[in-house]
Amino acid sequence: MPPRRLCVLHHRHQEWTPALQEAEPRLEIRSWHPRDFGAADQGWLAEAEGLFAWKLPPGALARMPVLRWIQCAGAGVDHLLSDPEVSPEVVITRADGRFGFWMARYVLGHLLEDVQRIRECREDQAASRWNPKCLPENRGGGKARVVGFGRIGRQIGRALREIGMEVTGIVRTPRSDPEFPLRGPSDLPEALAAARVLVLAAPSTAQTRGLIGAGVLQHGNPRLTLINVGRGDLVDPSALIPALEGGRLGRVVLDVFAEEPLPVGSPLWTHPRVTVTPHHSGPSTPRDLLPDILAKLRAFAEGRPIPDPVSRQRGY
Ligand code: GLV
Repeated sequence: MPPRRLCVLHHRHQEWTPALQEAEPRLEIRSWHPRDFGAADQGWLAEAEGLFAWKLPPGALARMPVLRWIQCAGAGVDHLLSDPEVSPEVVITRADGRFGFWMARYVLGHLLEDVQRIRECREDQAASRWNPKCLPENRGGGKARVVGFGRIGRQIGRALREIGMEVTGIVRTPRSDPEFPLRGPSDLPEALAAARVLVLAAPSTAQTRGLIGAGVLQHGNPRLTLINVGRGDLVDPSALIPALEGGRLGRVVLDVFAEEPLPVGSPLWTHPRVTVTPHHSGPSTPRDLLPDILAKLRAFAEGRPIPDPVSRQRGY
């Protein structure tokens, strides 16, 4: 049996290819930057059954007639599921690896800036002012709601619990859980009324797109911080500034946007209570993601079914 071919199509393919090859030496791997894919060897591609990629350049899959597996170089596969070039026969797998760890850091970092009143402390320091009245808020805890409670959301929930917050997960189907109360999306309005932070860590699916719009936000409160590390389209961006101005949101921290990069003219760039970051809360490095991919690489090399495929019906 000749070695199976895995095509790596990634803007950081020079970093990924040796890592994948070391992880599974039995594969024949060739790699391209998506921008150079047009010049890729058609003869070789015609027999490649596996693809490791993030975004696919248009027409890429027409060049891979025997493709049967795409390993996404990240957690969210919405862009692959909505791509008409990806045949329903192709198995898609995702990797959320250590995103929970990184995203928990992101959420805590941005939240604690306010909770610990770090900016005010700096201002006092700049004026050489000893101000014992500048106390951290939330000494009695605070309520955190985390939408999407898979591996990533749960780790964020644990981190928030470690800093004394009372955490509720919002999931597709409410169920009992040994660690956290889990509620359904219909409980979101009620859950927001007294919440200090609403974290979005859900994938983009038919159920989650537009979930956070004016309707839900009218149940917000002036102390509520919204942090989105999931997908931009979970939020209706036109609802955010009215909610901030109307006292239904206190602050917004966005790492993901329906359109990326966020267009220069967007009012989100300049609003004083909005923080915009460049989709950097979960680095997709080989070190972080390979542990998730390993079993799939092995199965592919051995011609076995690829474990843990994405459900097209669920969307993740
Ligand atoms: C990044 O957004 C990812 O889905 O991995």
